[in-house]
Amino acid sequence: MEIKGGLLKAIKEKVEYTSVEITPDDSEVLVDLKASSLNRRDLWIQEGKYAKIRLPCIVGSDGSGIYDGREVILLPSMKWGSSASHQSTDFEVLGMPHHGCCAEKIAIRPEYIFDKPSHLTHLEAASLPLSGLTAWRALMTQGQAKPDQKILITGIGGGVAGFVLLFAVAHGMEVYVTSSSDNKIARSVALGAVGGENYRNPESYTNLTKAASGFDVIIDSAGGGDFHKLLKIANPGARIVQYGGTQGAMDGISPQILFWKQLTIKGSTMGTREEFANMLEFINLHRLRPCIDKVFPLSEVNQAFDYMKSGSHFGKIVLDHS
Ligand SMILES: NC(=O)c1ccc[n+]([C@@H]2O[C@H](COP(=O)([O-])OP(=O)(O)OC[C@H]3O[C@@H](n4cnc5c(N)ncnc54)[C@H](OP(=O)(O)O)[C@@H]3O)[C@@H](O)[C@H]2O)c1
Repeated sequence: MEIKGGLLKAIKEKVEYTSVEITPDDSEVLVDLKASSLNRRDLWIQEGKYAKIRLPCIVGSDGSGIYDGREVILLPSMKWGSSASHQSTDFEVLGMPHHGCCAEKIAIRPEYIFDKPSHLTHLEAASLPLSGLTAWRALMTQGQAKPDQKILITGIGGGVAGFVLLFAVAHGMEVYVTSSSDNKIARSVALGAVGGENYRNPESYTNLTKAASGFDVIIDSAGGGDFHKLLKIANPGARIVQYGGTQGAMDGISPQILFWKQLTIKGSTMGTREEFANMLEFINLHRLRPCIDKVFPLSEVNQAFDYMKSGSHFGKIVLDHS
């Protein structure tokens, strides 16, 4: 079957909005996609900075649409396996190598189809799956976050970080953020954060310690040369959850601070079916709405990628398929 979608043919090439032949296998059904959204992963693949790249492929891990008369969203964690603590060696993320969601239709197994929260539009729902699930597992499962605890979220402009903010505020936590942008910090405060610091300011970690007097949970996607500072501002017994390597290797970690404060540094990747279902229940319960930065028509998928590269977004970049 011929559909139109955003196809990446080779690394270092632009995503092209074009006709693509898809062939559902016997276990798959067709979902009409109404909206999709972008993740940093899509850029890493385009730039060749991702493991086991197999192209050509329709990009996009996040989709919302209609299946069998139902409004649905798609779970992007594929072949997770049987262990709740980690994914199997067969694990895949929807949107490479399996054709992704930036297209008119997708062929996918029914086990990856969930009911869309009814209070959300398709555009809002499409912003949710990969970032929301990653945020949920990092915060609730790996971070063991509790109401009234103090939490620091680094790089709040990121898609996942935005969902950590949304969930942590609804969970009754005292939330602080960091960002390269004072404007993004102000927007986070408007969404319920108590305060924040610009990580480009050399005094930012001192100021955070003064403001919060230590953090019980820290959620980080940057890594890099400043990661070791997070151990200094963590409270004894804190959990530091790491889900991204935007700034590369994490040098300078002090073993003395790590063992004396009895800290946990926990890695986190995506999440399970159960975590996805729990996240949807929480979103329905609190009537949460994701933060969308900008909407592009599906036909402008390439312009949406360029906008993500600019780094000016706060929240998700969404594609409207209507
Ligand atoms: N493990 C997983 O399952 C998983 C899932 C999703 C994403 N990830 C990874 O997580 C990272 C973020 O992904 P995303 O989709 O949320 O990306 P994104 O929307 O593109 O956001 C990246 C953000 O990183 C922040 N940042 C850059 N340099 C930083 C620094 N030195 N300190 C703190 N923050 C910094 C920036 O925040 P400001 O704009 O506020 O400065 C930027 O907005 C990527 O590395 C991605 O590959 C991993």
